[in-house]
Amino acid sequence: MALIEPHGGGNLKPLFVMDEAQRADLAKEALTLPSIVISSAAAGNAVMLGGGYFTPLEGFMNKADALGVATDLKTASGLFWPTPVLNMVEDAGAIKAGDRIALRDPNVAGNPVLAIQDVKAVETFTDDEMALMTQKVYRTDDMAHPGVKAFNTVGKTCISGPIKVLNYSYFEKDFPGTFRTAYQIREEMEKLGWSKVVAFQTRNPMHRAHEELCRMAYNDLKCDGILIHMLLGKLKAGDIPADVRDACIRKMVELYFEPNTVLVTGYGFDMLYAGPREAVLHAVFRQNTGCTHLIVGRDHAGVGDYYGGFDAQTIFDEEVPAGALKIEIYRADHTAYSKVLNKVIMMKDAPEGHTKEDFVLLSGTKVREMLGQGIAPPPEFSRPEVAKILMDYYQIVDKK
Ligand code: ADX
Repeated sequence: MALIEPHGGGNLKPLFVMDEAQRADLAKEALTLPSIVISSAAAGNAVMLGGGYFTPLEGFMNKADALGVATDLKTASGLFWPTPVLNMVEDAGAIKAGDRIALRDPNVAGNPVLAIQDVKAVETFTDDEMALMTQKVYRTDDMAHPGVKAFNTVGKTCISGPIKVLNYSYFEKDFPGTFRTAYQIREEMEKLGWSKVVAFQTRNPMHRAHEELCRMAYNDLKCDGILIHMLLGKLKAGDIPADVRDACIRKMVELYFEPNTVLVTGYGFDMLYAGPREAVLHAVFRQNTGCTHLIVGRDHAGVGDYYGGFDAQTIFDEEVPAGALKIEIYRADHTAYSKVLNKVIMMKDAPEGHTKEDFVLLSGTKVREMLGQGIAPPPEFSRPEVAKILMDYYQIVDKK
């Protein structure tokens, strides 16, 4: 069976220049072009566009597309898309429509060229338009929300137009075993003969609830495999760095999953913390990697208490038109270890009389506190081998 089709119904459209000679020519040309250092968010967009994750987009959105996407989840031409994909700058200087410019990477020393853009328009959003996009995408305008802050501190002028991507920023070098493009994932899954695949989005080390969610989805849906797909880009302060999460996840997969049932991979994008809207974006780009299902559980892509526990599921009923996506959502209820049943279950499946106290529930703050003190959380919450990696990490961090 073939893999699920990419979003938009055509072929996967990676904007990375595959031909080495052509890439070298473009890199040479880039040195002669006017250039700007772009924002980290825009660099993440370029990396995602490069790897085919944002198929069928051909570059950065213009104002009409971004406003359409923010308000109605569709571009001016009617393509379903959940979040603006913008190259925002404080000041575009002399850059104007018709120019060809080099986009330099803010996240790599020396700001090397990441992509070349053919500028179609340079447009500035009004304060009202910025506020509208923020409210629609993040459901709040609170600058204490890390996504709202990131979106509102990189300028209001968008440079739109198609891009050609020349490299994958720091992701290939820093995460050689884990960073993958959408086309690489498709290739790997084709080789493995997988066609029904469930994706697990994560920005955390995986604890027992995460592990069991993957297992439940795999068994319930009778999948060929599980794609664990971790975010490798920027997170808010206090979140666990990608290399530590990667080590935890690899250890868990090695010890607790059947061989050849899981692909451990990552993507280069900064976390938006946009909760429901980000969940829909996650679905779009997991379809592009060839996955048929995406696990969406409690407070998916959320932060603080900006979103209801299951808003990231209900958005698929309320704002995603039927047929807009081919990928399906595997809905997970709050999941935890039951001391009565001696296993991890979804709370909705608890037998009558089972109470909250019968679950092993620990807050993120409590777990962090324990790990920092070198105390492993109970094995019902976290695999001991995973806890060990996290304790080692926190002991170093807390001593700094
Ligand atoms: S996220 O920001 O990447 O969504 P995280 O890595 O914590 O954060 O979660 C990954 C996925 O697991 C999300 O779909 C999330 O909703 C789900 N999830 C995490 N913990 C639980 C839990 N205890 N019960 C149900 N779903 C959960």
